Amino acid sequence: MLHPVVLSGGSGTRLWPLSRQNQPKQFLSLIGDRSLFQETILRANGLSGAQPPVTVCSEDHRFMVGEQLQAIGVASGGILLEPVARNTAPAIALAALHVLAGDAEATMLVMPADHLIEDEAAFRDAVSSASNLGDGDWLVAFGIRPDYAETGYGYILRGERLLKGGPGEGGYRIERFVEKPGLATAERYLAEGTYAWNSGMFLFKARRYLDELALHAPGILAAAQAAYRSASADLDFIRIDSDAFAASPSDSIDYAVMEKTDRAAVVPVSCGWSDIGSWSSLWSVAQRDTNGNRHEGDVISVDSSGSLVRASERRLIATIGVEDLVIIDTADATLVARKDRVQDVKVVVDLLKAAG
Ligand code: GDD
Ligand code: MG
Repeated sequence: MLHPVVLSGGSGTRLWPLSRQNQPKQFLSLIGDRSLFQETILRANGLSGAQPPVTVCSEDHRFMVGEQLQAIGVASGGILLEPVARNTAPAIALAALHVLAGDAEATMLVMPADHLIEDEAAFRDAVSSASNLGDGDWLVAFGIRPDYAETGYGYILRGERLLKGGPGEGGYRIERFVEKPGLATAERYLAEGTYAWNSGMFLFKARRYLDELALHAPGILAAAQAAYRSASADLDFIRIDSDAFAASPSDSIDYAVMEKTDRAAVVPVSCGWSDIGSWSSLWSVAQRDTNGNRHEGDVISVDSSGSLVRASERRLIATIGVEDLVIIDTADATLVARKDRVQDVKVVVDLLKAAG
């Protein structure tokens, strides 16, 4: 059976000042009324034949996760609480052990909690193609056609065809998987036109994933097994053992498994996918007025264009004659930045951390 697993442990520092340590971006209502996490859970829940989604998140966010799940009325397949963050490879290992405990034949669909997908029907078609490959014991990634040389993504070179295009676009063996290449390499891949971006969603049999960890990252497997074995359950929450999990190496599935395995496949998907990594990416996916502005809350703009302006509840924001700015106001901090410099929000966050 198909078990969606929603990874919700990231911190999203580039969306400061809205995103904070105790309120990461996946739990914020950035577009519309629901959070990205809630949208992801609903997307998982809408897949035919899928089991209730499993969430893997930090122990610190258990109340937020519990409340957000309750608010959308979706039954939970369990909420695994990590005492410390060890990146995605160990988080997915915990989820694999959890689904295998109830279903020896479990297949997992790993979904990051902070992505936007506009075309759910195309996404569902891709999942059904991927399920066919998963049944054949492939570890399946979902490939996105790249449109610029992003260095924060993984790149996938496809090889021989494994699955004919059906409702989705078929599937291919992965010839090479390169996580987060340098800029020159990313530019070359883009120019070659034969690489896809890795979307960060994966589908595979839980058993197969653990077998791959045994081969390529046995330390992660051993720590996750020990930590899951000593976990304690409390209603839907499963508290992972702290000492055992802290002993795990910290690594992502991309580096630990996908770059190394020879059983990787890719299903290309064109589903309006975006990773809301920064304020400019939010601006580019959100609806804008005829001047290219996206306003939220009380905003007045005169002769301004290309800007994302988000007012807090207490204050009105007025702009005159500005272009391509990001202005984000919150109760205790305000960001004003050029839209092409918002990647550097993490510099501000680092300065704040250093200042204690
Ligand atoms: N539970 C849990 N625990 N979740 C985590 C942890 C963790 O320790 N670390 C990260 N996550 C979650 C994040 O919240 C996010 O939803 C997802 O796992 C992916 O982690 P990111 O940290 O956002 O990864 P990335 O964006 O740098 O790279 C991945 O995604 C790209 C596409 O957005 C890779 O898979 C790339 O290859 C891919 O291109
Ligand atoms: Mg990400």
